[in-house]
Amino acid sequence: MSKQFDVIVIGAGPGGYIAAIRAAQLGFKVACIDEWKNDKGGPAPGGTCTNVGCIPSKALLQSSEHFDQASHHFAEHGIGVKGLSMDVSTMVARKDLVVKQNNDGILYLFKKNKVSFFHGRGSFAKAVEGGYEILVTGAATESLTGKQVIVATGSRARALPGTPFDEESILSNDGALRIGAVPKKLGLIGSGVIGLEMGSVWRRLGAEVTILEGLPTFLGAVDEQIAKEAHKAFIKQGLKIELGVKVGAIKTGKKGVSIAYENAKGEAQTLDVDKLIISIGRLANTEGLNAEAVGLKLDERGLVVVDDDCRTNLPGVWAVGDVVRGPMLAHKAEEEGVAVAERIAGQHGHVNFNTVPWVIYTSPEIAWVGQTEQQLKAAGRAYKAGTFPFLANGRARALGDTTGMVKFLADAATDEILGVHIVGPMASELIAEAVVAMEFRASSEDIARICHAHPSLSEATKEAALAVDKRSLNF
Ligand code: FAD
Ligand code: NAI
Repeated sequence: MSKQFDVIVIGAGPGGYIAAIRAAQLGFKVACIDEWKNDKGGPAPGGTCTNVGCIPSKALLQSSEHFDQASHHFAEHGIGVKGLSMDVSTMVARKDLVVKQNNDGILYLFKKNKVSFFHGRGSFAKAVEGGYEILVTGAATESLTGKQVIVATGSRARALPGTPFDEESILSNDGALRIGAVPKKLGLIGSGVIGLEMGSVWRRLGAEVTILEGLPTFLGAVDEQIAKEAHKAFIKQGLKIELGVKVGAIKTGKKGVSIAYENAKGEAQTLDVDKLIISIGRLANTEGLNAEAVGLKLDERGLVVVDDDCRTNLPGVWAVGDVVRGPMLAHKAEEEGVAVAERIAGQHGHVNFNTVPWVIYTSPEIAWVGQTEQQLKAAGRAYKAGTFPFLANGRARALGDTTGMVKFLADAATDEILGVHIVGPMASELIAEAVVAMEFRASSEDIARICHAHPSLSEATKEAALAVDKRSLNF
């Protein structure tokens, strides 16, 4: 007997579990299926984000930042530390605990909202009258029937052709979060978000880190001025970043990993490291879905094809998060999950892609929302720019962290904020003000006229807004 549901969600990452909760809040009978296993074989809902992504990476970034502060910055506060040490296994165990707390939190939320959770792989069996039959293959096989199905199966790391991940020497994001001791030499391929965050963790703990990047520009999607400032800071910290390389043969042996590559000048080089993290983007998880059984349309990269509202080619089947077009970000997945649940309920769920913030949790942090200066130039849009350095911000001086700046881009005629870009301390938190402002289509003058607490880093945001009109007060 197939169990009947109004809504079946496949995948319990941030897209799926949030969609399930919102659908349950709206009065639907909801099932959520997820196959992720913890180290005891039990369920571990939360997807990539909770298990091997956002949460564990931020836990390790925090631990390594504490170590870096104690190693290099406590002394200037008059704090002496003798015999400072780093126990990587304790750091990793703490990270695992943080992950488990999040897994348990989601199971609790499912219970609270009466979402039925199924542990196993969900796949399409067939279309049935008024919905779809979904099989759950776990400890046993179960049949569920749903009037509506939300696919939220997420993504996995992309390997380099011919170099599969062994998670011992050649690591994806999964292995990168489970390294048991600080490697003497660590290599990374790809200086994108994972490359910079993971490279920072192990550099702070003492590894010699080299990142090989295929493109000639550093962080090409980031505002150029901000990317330059960040690059300068990373190089100063000791990260080695080689741009414009062509990676060749990768060999693993007893001594580690050897990477042959051509540098930007076309010279043959070899990089020998103890471990290699490959962070060159991610692929959609669609193989396990049996999409063919119902004719669910995928594109040439394996992404589920959806319209602006996350509708697939099949009536009553939706898809959200990393498995569809758009940025691979947890908060984007969540917003799509909420919007789809609301659309199923006949409401008008909406996601504004222009105000999805990005954050790179390095030190300094990089955060932005809206358009970059290079995008505005390419579009021929007339704009004004204003910047304010943290060097001139009292709170940043007191913190001892004055790297970076806040940058505003506003329409030349209307003054509407078109983009805000930050590199510096707590950029991840500061960007929220810019997101709110852009959602309300505020002008830079609106921010400039708002009273900001003193002393606070947010005053740099106000000052950058003032700088759009060339009237910043403290610089
Ligand atoms: P996922 O989180 O990938 O979840 C999909 C779930 O579906 C998984 O549990 C998977 O096991 C399950 N699944 C797949 N197929 C099936 C099936 N057939 N049946 C049952 N279950 C299935 N984003 C941010 O916004 N901020 C960050 O700081 C951040 N840091 C990151 C750090 C790293 C190292 C990585 C790798 C990613 C990071 N991301 C971050 C990206 C973020 O993790 C993803 O954008 C987000 O997890 C996508 O959510 P999702 O629900 O679409 O998919
Ligand atoms: P990415 O797309 O951010 O970066 C990949 C980098 O690898 C690019 O710079 C690309 O030019 C380079 N590259 C690709 N192929 C290459 C090759 N053959 N040789 C050398 N360089 C090559 O992807 P990444 O870092 O794997 O992260 C995946 C996604 O996960 C991110 O795009 C982001 O959506 C998400 N993420 C988000 C985080 C956050 O929000 N803080 C943190 C980590 C990941």
